Amino acid sequence: MQNNENKVALVSGANTGVGFQIAKALVENSYTVYVGSRDLVKGEAAVQELGGSAKAIQLDITDSGSIRSAVEIVEKEYGYLTLLVNNAAISHAGIPGRTLEEIMGAQRASIAPIDELKTVWDTNVFGTLALT
Ligand SMILES: NC(=O)c1ccc[n+]([C@@H]2O[C@H](COP(=O)([O-])OP(=O)(O)OC[C@H]3O[C@@H](n4cnc5c(N)ncnc54)[C@H](OP(=O)(O)O)[C@@H]3O)[C@@H](O)[C@H]2O)c1
Repeated sequence: MQNNENKVALVSGANTGVGFQIAKALVENSYTVYVGSRDLVKGEAAVQELGGSAKAIQLDITDSGSIRSAVEIVEKEYGYLTLLVNNAAISHAGIPGRTLEEIMGAQRASIAPIDELKTVWDTNVFGTLALT
């Protein structure tokens, strides 16, 4: 039986940015929060900052083995999730350090490198579906 004392959430890409802020809000609202992070060290650093009932969990949504391991941990420790927040995403897969204008310009359909688009879709679409 789930009640206010055992709400369990998993937030993907929660070591930074919007995902971190969502995890923070959930901790403040009495959730146990799995802080999904590709790099467990970054996840553990985020958990230190979040406190409460945050728990770091290694999770790369493009890696089926990583997803399976995370699911096994959740199943073993709680057996359910109250909430899944599909936050992890990438905005592009090109050269890092470019301005937003340069990134947007390089994503026009007529010139966007297909390999880069596939990488973005692998994360944002298929990774998200795989985790769900
Ligand atoms: N910021 C905005 O203004 C804005 C606006 C609209 C929508 N959003 C959406 O909000 C979400 C977060 O955006 P953000 O600005 O916080 O982005 P961010 O700072 O770049 O953070 C993205 C997070 O996703 C993680 N991630 C990337 N690829 C992953 C993968 N394959 N598996 C697991 N985690 C992965 C990153 O991990 P690493 O730290 O390891 O890279 C990071 O934790 C995205 O869905 C984005 O589309 C943001």
